[in-house]
Amino acid sequence: MLETNVLYYGDNLDILRRYIPDESVDLIYLDPPFNSERNYNVIFKNEAGRNTDAQLVAFEDAWHWGPNPEKVYAYLTNSAPHEGRVPDPVTSIVAALRKGIGDNPMMAYIVEMSVRLVELHRVLKPTGSIFLHCDPTAGHYLRLVLDAIFDARNFQNEIVWKRSSAHSDTTQGAVHLGRTHDVIFFYSKSAVTTRNVVMIPFSKEYVESHYRHVEPVTGRRYRLGDLTAAKPGGDTLYEWTSPSGKSVRPYKGRYWAYTKEKMAEFERQGRLVYTKSGMPEYKRYIDDNPGQPLQDIWDDIPPINSQAKERLGYPTQKPEALLERIVELASNPGDVVLDPFCGCGTALIAAEKLTRRWIGIDITYLAIAVMKARLKDSFGMETVKVLGQPTEVEGARQFPDRAGQRQERPRQQRYGARLERDNRTRACGPRLVPHVRGADQGDAA
Ligand SMILES: C[S@@+](CC[C@H](N)C(=O)[O-])C[C@H]1O[C@@H](n2cnc3c(N)ncnc32)[C@H](O)[C@@H]1O
Repeated sequence: MLETNVLYYGDNLDILRRYIPDESVDLIYLDPPFNSERNYNVIFKNEAGRNTDAQLVAFEDAWHWGPNPEKVYAYLTNSAPHEGRVPDPVTSIVAALRKGIGDNPMMAYIVEMSVRLVELHRVLKPTGSIFLHCDPTAGHYLRLVLDAIFDARNFQNEIVWKRSSAHSDTTQGAVHLGRTHDVIFFYSKSAVTTRNVVMIPFSKEYVESHYRHVEPVTGRRYRLGDLTAAKPGGDTLYEWTSPSGKSVRPYKGRYWAYTKEKMAEFERQGRLVYTKSGMPEYKRYIDDNPGQPLQDIWDDIPPINSQAKERLGYPTQKPEALLERIVELASNPGDVVLDPFCGCGTALIAAEKLTRRWIGIDITYLAIAVMKARLKDSFGMETVKVLGQPTEVEGARQFPDRAGQRQERPRQQRYGARLERDNRTRACGPRLVPHVRGADQGDAA
C-alpha cells in the first residue's frame, strides 16, 4: 500500500524501487540539480582515465563519469540485468548518445536521469503526467530519453518558464545572449489523462491596448464589439432605433448578430453604445472575461527575489505559484503528487494547499529538515513521517562513497535539529545556506 503525505530520505532511485508501487502516482514534478551555468564547458570534457564516481550528491558540484554511471549504463543497455524493464528505444538512445557524447559529466547525467525516468514511468498511473524541470543545456538530450520512455505521442509541451530578468553577461564580455529561461517538459503516460483548464489573466499591456474604454461611474474597463454577422439566422434584418431616434439597418451584405428581442435586452442592461450614425456597438467588460487559456510560455511567474515572503534561502527554491499551476493543471483533489528531487518541498506545499496527497524524496538532511519545518510552519503539521531516515551510523553505511554528503551531514543534522527546536523554516536563511554548495544555482541562491 502506498503511504502518502510522507517524506523519504535517500537516493530516489533506491526509494522508488523499494517503496513506490507500479501505477500509484497521478502527477510527478522533478527538478534535478544540474550545474549547467557554471560548468558548461566542463560537462563535455572527456574524463577518460579519471577515477571518480558519479557524484549524484545533492549540492555537490557536478556529475562525473565513473564506475557507477558505467554500471547504470550496463543495466540500461543489457536486457539480462533489467529483464525487460527498460524499453528497447531507451537502450538504443542511451547507447547512441554515449557514442556521440563520450564519457563525461553530461553523459553521466543522462545515464543517471534515464534510469530514474524509467522508474518514474513505472510508478505513474496510466492517467498521470510528468513535468521535468531542466534548462536548455541538457534539455535536448532529456527530451530524446523522455520520448523513448513515454512515447513521443505523449509529449504535450515544452514549457518555457522565464526565470530571471535580463542578464548583463553581454556587457561583461559574454558571446551568448542572456540565458533567462528554464524548460519544463510535460508528458502524459497515455492519451487518456487528467487535465484541467487553467485560465491566465490578461497582461496589463493587453488590457490597456484592447480594453481602452473605462466607464466613468463604475470604473469598469470595456471594449466595443460589432453587433453584425456575416450569416443570417432568423430575425436578423430588422431596423433598429437608438434612444436618440436614429434608425439603422446592418451594414451592406451583413445581418444583425442577435434578434430584436435580445438587442432590446442589451439596451435595458446599458450594454449598447452608439456611433454618430446611430449604429449600436456592444460593451464587453474585461471583468466578464476569465482571461486566456494557459499557453506554453510562462512569463508571468517571477522568480523568488531576495525580499520574497516565501523565500527560505534554500538554493534553487522554485516559486509556489509555479508549482501550484502545474498541480492545478494536471491533478485533482485527492490525487497523489510525487517530487523525487524535492529540495525544500515547494511541490509538496502546492499539493497540500490544493488538497492533493503528496510524497517527497530528497537525499540531503537539510532538505528533509527544511521540509518538515516548512510543512509545520505553513499547515501546522506537527509530525511528518520521514521514511528511510537513517541514524548517523546507518547513514554512513547507506551512502558510503558520497564524500560530499558525508562531510555535509553533521552540519545538516545540526541545522535540522535547530530548525525543529526553533520551529522555523527560515533558520536556513541566506547567510546559513551558502556553505551547502549549490549544484545548480537557482534564483534564490
Ligand atoms: C534543484 S533542487 C530542487 C528544488 C525544489 N524544486 C524546490 O523548489 O525546493 C534538487 C534537489 O534534489 C536533491 N537530490 C539530488 N540528487 C538526489 C537523489 N539522487 N535522490 C533524491 N534527491 C536528490 C538535492 O538534495 C536537492 O535538494
